[in-house]
Amino acid sequence: MNRPRIVIEKDPDAVAAAAARNWLRLAREAVSEQGVFHVALSGGSTPRRLHAALAAAAPPPPWAAVEAWFGDKRCVPPDDPESNYRMARETLFDRVPIAPGHIHPILCSPADCRRAAHAYARTLATRLPAAASGMPRLDLAVLGMGPDGHTASLFPGSCILSETERPAAAVYVDRLKAWRVSLTRPLLEAARHLMFIVTGADKAPAVARALATAHDPAGLPVQRLAPAGEVTWYLDAAAAAGLEETRP
Ligand code: 6PG
Repeated sequence: MNRPRIVIEKDPDAVAAAAARNWLRLAREAVSEQGVFHVALSGGSTPRRLHAALAAAAPPPPWAAVEAWFGDKRCVPPDDPESNYRMARETLFDRVPIAPGHIHPILCSPADCRRAAHAYARTLATRLPAAASGMPRLDLAVLGMGPDGHTASLFPGSCILSETERPAAAVYVDRLKAWRVSLTRPLLEAARHLMFIVTGADKAPAVARALATAHDPAGLPVQRLAPAGEVTWYLDAAAAAGLEETRP
């Protein structure tokens, strides 16, 4: 398992710019190698700045060859203010020439999350190449992290953390009293590159813990991941504040 590369920038805008440069590099390399770039977008609010940087990039990414997937889905209607799809549509898809057929939303309502997860897993397996593990292989998964160390919808104590076979699964998140569909650990671990984008002082304790011991099967959800590919953390100074105390 590769040691993560850590990039610390002064503020969220600088973090987004640095992450966008790497996103662009990975996209161009993937399209040059295989004619397509399969990327899973993160939910939450942090990716808004990244999406703005990508939409403004000049020269632009090779949008005609980009296929956009989702790291997870809050099981709400697509136009709900909490919808990760709505956030991506407003901040990215409506601003770039990505083909509608290359946007792969997770289609589910609270009543049919399990069926939606099964359908998404099937689509992933159909459209993506297989990694050595047999899992569908993303070129890049962009991930956020909560103050509790969750990523995508892999929350502490949730059964989805133990999923080892399926690339996507439905999970009821007790703390949120809500259903979600999420990419699973084996799918994320099979990605060629994971990019964590984490900003804000509220995340500093979890960042310090997660990066003190990169892989801890009993640790935070982000520490449960054992990625086969490259991992890069993009942090602002506030989220990285605890690192000085823990890094050798
Ligand atoms: C979600 C995300 C989740 C998110 C983190 C960080 O649907 O909420 O997938 O994993 O990335 O909670 O969220 P913020 O970027 O809003 O801090």
